[in-house]
Amino acid sequence: MAGNWKMNGTSTRCVELAHAVRAASDGVAAQVIVAPPATSLAVVSGVFAGSPVGIAGQNIHWAASGAFTGEIAPGMVAEYAGFVLVGHSERRQLFGETDDDTNRKVHAAFDHGLAPIICVGETAAQRAAGATDTTVAGQLFAATDGITAVEVERIMIAYEPVWSIGTGAACDPAEAGRVAGLVRGSLEVAFGPGAGDVRILYGGSVGPANVRGYLAHEDVDGALVGGASLDPAAFGALVRAADEAA
Ligand code: PGA
Repeated sequence: MAGNWKMNGTSTRCVELAHAVRAASDGVAAQVIVAPPATSLAVVSGVFAGSPVGIAGQNIHWAASGAFTGEIAPGMVAEYAGFVLVGHSERRQLFGETDDDTNRKVHAAFDHGLAPIICVGETAAQRAAGATDTTVAGQLFAATDGITAVEVERIMIAYEPVWSIGTGAACDPAEAGRVAGLVRGSLEVAFGPGAGDVRILYGGSVGPANVRGYLAHEDVDGALVGGASLDPAAFGALVRAADEAA
C-alpha cells in the first residue's frame, strides 16, 4: 500500500503523518510505502528508522549531479529512500515529462540503488479512442527499455488511468485488473518468466470504500493512493485492507 503525499505538507505535518503511518503499519504483513515531498524525506526517514515502512521519492532528475537548478538528483533521494516514483501522470501532463525522460530516470534510479515505481495510464481521450492498451504498453516498454531481467524484478508498476486521478471517478476493478494483467503479460514476454512476479498497483481515487475490489483481482497487488493517503484514518484503513489481502 503506497501513499503519494504529492506537494502537501510542511516537515511538521509530514512527521505527524509519518507517525500515524508507522503506528498503522505495526505488525502488518503488507508492504507499506510513503512518498513524502522531497523537503521532508530526511525527517520522515527518521520517523521510520527501524520500521519496515518504505520511503519513496516522488521524482528524480536523471543526471547524477550538476547545473540543474531546482532538480533533485537520484543520489540525494537515495540517502533517505529505497524507491522513487517515475513517470507519474502529473509529471507527464503538467511538466512535460516524456517517455524518454521516464526511461532515463528508471536507469538513473537503478544506478543509485533506488527501485522505480513506474506509473503508466491513459487519458480519457485515449480511452475514448480505444487506445488504452496501446498507450499503457507503449509507456511500459519505453520506461523499461534497456533494463535487465534482474532489474525488472525490482520495479513496481502503477496502473493509473489519468481520468481517475484525484477525480473520484475510480476505474471499474475488473477493468483495472484487466489492464494490470496486460502489464504483467507484456513484461513476461519482454523479460521472461521472472517478470511475472512484478508487483502491480492500481491508482486513481482509491479509498477505504473501494480498495478491496482492486486487491481482490489476482493481477492487482496493491494500490498507489494520493488524496486518501493524507488522511491518517483512511490510510490506516487502506493498510489494514492490504494486510487482509496479504
Ligand atoms: P488519488 O491520486 O488517489 O488522489 O486519485 C492517485 C495518484 O496520483 O497516485
